[in-house]
Amino acid sequence: MSFRSTRMQGKVAVVTGGASGIGRACALRLAEEGALGVVVADLHLDQARATADEIAAAGGNASAFAVDVRDAQACEDMARHAVDRWGQLDVLVAAAGISGERAAADEEHDGTGAGLSFSSRTWQDVLDVNLNGLMHTDRAVARWMITVGSGGSIVNIASMCSAWASATATPYNVSKAGAWMLTKSLAIELAPHGIRVNAVGPGFIGDTGMTAHTRADEQAAAAVVDRTLLGRFGRPREVADAVLFLAGDESSYFTGSILYPDGGFNAPSR
Ligand code: NAI
Repeated sequence: MSFRSTRMQGKVAVVTGGASGIGRACALRLAEEGALGVVVADLHLDQARATADEIAAAGGNASAFAVDVRDAQACEDMARHAVDRWGQLDVLVAAAGISGERAAADEEHDGTGAGLSFSSRTWQDVLDVNLNGLMHTDRAVARWMITVGSGGSIVNIASMCSAWASATATPYNVSKAGAWMLTKSLAIELAPHGIRVNAVGPGFIGDTGMTAHTRADEQAAAAVVDRTLLGRFGRPREVADAVLFLAGDESSYFTGSILYPDGGFNAPSR
């Protein structure tokens, strides 16, 4: 018996949004488990490189890749990079995302919103990254997995907002509900190819760019902590652990599923 971490041994993974927060934690976690290669893909190449360098410095295998997931061709290039650089492609963690949280202050409202607090522009931006971008990413990687023919595992980072709405983040909530439906639909389409498709729907996670505003607002942060049964924000690594499970062979009977690491945020009926 060996106690070395090998849950990702022999597997090559692409992680979008790998420069920061949850994506970064996922890239590190997969590498830590012996991945043959991790492609850290992000809009911000310098920060993606920093994650890849951190992995390499710890003895892991990683490359950085600049991608804007809104660009379908760039996603195809990203998948090709994984195969060119590491020889195969087994796992996708799709974590790139934006919150559109400035929506409430958005002054570009085009006057047709009937009291809604977001503009058409914010709606478009959030859907472009979180839903269209996710589709581009999943599709590009799935194509390679189908071509190679050895199956694979796709993990989409959705949100607890995939199922539970909040008043102030309508574009985000809709994008994440779409991410969850995309997950289930692709699970059906890709099962004949041995490709499993699952999602992780985190609650409020600290140490990420996305919750910086909430955490900086004392009242808002206290409200989150108060409602969360475990009494704190989650850690990116706690999400990465759920992702690791779905990415690897331990979840071999999971597809079209979602795991919610939310600290019990949604256990109470309200
Ligand atoms: P983050 O802001 O720290 O990381 C998001 C990453 O996505 C950044 O590195 C950013 O550069 C990248 N990105 C944004 N637009 C991109 C694009 N067009 N192309 C490529 N990369 C792009 O935020 P966090 O929290 O780590 O978010 C990761 C995922 O987790 C997102 O999908 C988010 O919606 C989801 N999530 C986060 C929660 C939280 O509490 N932090 C809760 C539930 C879901």
